[in-house]
Amino acid sequence: MNASSSRLDEARVRADQGLNVLLEKLLAERGWDFRGYKKTSLTRRVLKRLQANGLSSVTEYVRLLEADPSEYQKLFSCLTIKVSEFFREPEVFSALREILRSEFAGTPVRAWCCASACGEEAYSLAILLTECLGLDALAYSKVFATDIDPEALECGRRATYRVDSMQNVSPEIKERYFIRTDGQFKVKYTIRNIVKFGTLDMVRNPALSGMHIVFCRNLFIYFDKPLQEAVFHKLDYALRPGGVLALGKAEVLPQQYASGYTAVGKGLNLFRKKG
Ligand SMILES: C[S@@+](CC[C@H](N)C(=O)[O-])C[C@H]1O[C@@H](n2cnc3c(N)ncnc32)[C@H](O)[C@@H]1O
Repeated sequence: MNASSSRLDEARVRADQGLNVLLEKLLAERGWDFRGYKKTSLTRRVLKRLQANGLSSVTEYVRLLEADPSEYQKLFSCLTIKVSEFFREPEVFSALREILRSEFAGTPVRAWCCASACGEEAYSLAILLTECLGLDALAYSKVFATDIDPEALECGRRATYRVDSMQNVSPEIKERYFIRTDGQFKVKYTIRNIVKFGTLDMVRNPALSGMHIVFCRNLFIYFDKPLQEAVFHKLDYALRPGGVLALGKAEVLPQQYASGYTAVGKGLNLFRKKG
């Protein structure tokens, strides 16, 4: 090993140690447990906050948090990425529509979006249920939209969206389920009524239960493997036998659970829990 690569390694070790101190502090002071999140993406995000504050080390940043506690919220927003849109990956919703029409018509459905961001995915599911179940079944159906970030959930309850999150929404669906206000789209009450928002941290809190459908998309991409497995255990618990699970495009079913699920379609990352 030459001198410059050993200096680089030392710098990396120092950065890692700084990050670990920061993560322990977030847990102790705020109850946010980011310790099992991928270090590469955490480091990138923390560096953004360092840059925004003109700082050059995590140690200085930890001191800043002590001096200015409002920085905690800024860091939290930066670590929890809210990118989403209505009917994201439309082919997943098309496959689910077939399942709902052929197997669930007339049956009340319990669905859970467990990293729901500002509610786009949960409202998409509620629209799908409205289109596929009869009125009687719909009256007893619910979509539970949970996320670690209460501000995102508040935004979901307001249910007003910019046009750029609506690219996959057809004119007919817009007409039927949205009201246009000031260039934005507000979800109609009939759909809002189906969705129940609540804070739930998938790392620290227990799962919901008795679900026919679970959406957990674009959350595992931020977790290291052991955390993915621990959280998958909760999804598995939440889902009824025969229920349908949706993971994000870049996410995989943990190996030890693979035999308990069958893939629906090809490349959709939609799975059926074996009965
Ligand atoms: C990229 S968004 C995914 C939104 C939506 N599921 C989708 O695929 O379009 C990731 C969401 O995961 C949430 N999140 C991060 N860590 C979480 C945790 N431990 N428990 C619950 N939600 C979490 C973030 O707040 C963010 O809203």
